[in-house]
Amino acid sequence: MRNNPIGILDSGVGGLTVLAAIAKELPQESFVYAGDSANTPYGNKSEEEIYARASQLIEFLLTKNVKLIVIACNTITVSCLDRLRVEYSQIPLIGTVPVVKTAAFVTKNKRIGLLSTTRTAKSDYQKKLIETFASDCIVVNLGNDEIVPLIEKGEENSEEMEEVLKKALVGFQKEGIDTLVLGCTHFPFLKERMQKILGDSISLLDSGGAIARQVHRVLQHNDSLSHETTHQITIFTTGNVKIVKKLLHGTIEVKAIDIETFTYEYDH
Ligand code: DGL
Repeated sequence: MRNNPIGILDSGVGGLTVLAAIAKELPQESFVYAGDSANTPYGNKSEEEIYARASQLIEFLLTKNVKLIVIACNTITVSCLDRLRVEYSQIPLIGTVPVVKTAAFVTKNKRIGLLSTTRTAKSDYQKKLIETFASDCIVVNLGNDEIVPLIEKGEENSEEMEEVLKKALVGFQKEGIDTLVLGCTHFPFLKERMQKILGDSISLLDSGGAIARQVHRVLQHNDSLSHETTHQITIFTTGNVKIVKKLLHGTIEVKAIDIETFTYEYDH
């Protein structure tokens, strides 16, 4: 059990940024990743659809004998994490939410920006996070549904992305924030580009480090930290293998998967 892999899932490639953070914290752990890029984005789906798709991804990861599953997607987490925890009580599920608490702690001018998908931005879950942890701050909470599809198309470096980002960030610049929370796991792929647009006076925070530490704590508590000296990472995608490989700079094996039948094949 100890040396079994950690499962990670997302609506697409975003969770790979979380995988990188966990692998840095726990280099001896192995990973199986399931990304549903063929059906991304989840932000414009109903709660029922999101629940159904997330369940399929979990079922797939369970067939890989994972010891813990990270829901590396804010949209799934705010929509149905509680329900998934009831349905899959046999395995620890760790969700992803924007690091509002950290932002409220580090901001100097008490003006925080929160960039996520529209579904996450409008969720009760996020409203509660703001009320609980940042009630003494002005929080500029903006949703955007253009960025995720462009990353999924492999256009993270395109001109179009530059325009979309400038448009998405101007609202935060106008409000004079000093801290921006990235409330979608796809966004860290664009951290450098965002920082260039916003300038160095604004700090960008993502959830990767916090999730990695939480995974560490849970595995330690359950006495299931790996004792291996080497690790293995396998990536499954319902989408385009080439795009996923490009994002990973071709270093890790990527397999195409049919999530309905759980059948998969190597690079194609
Ligand atoms: N990576 C997902 C998140 O963190 C993207 C959401 C979507 O597919 O809409 O929310």
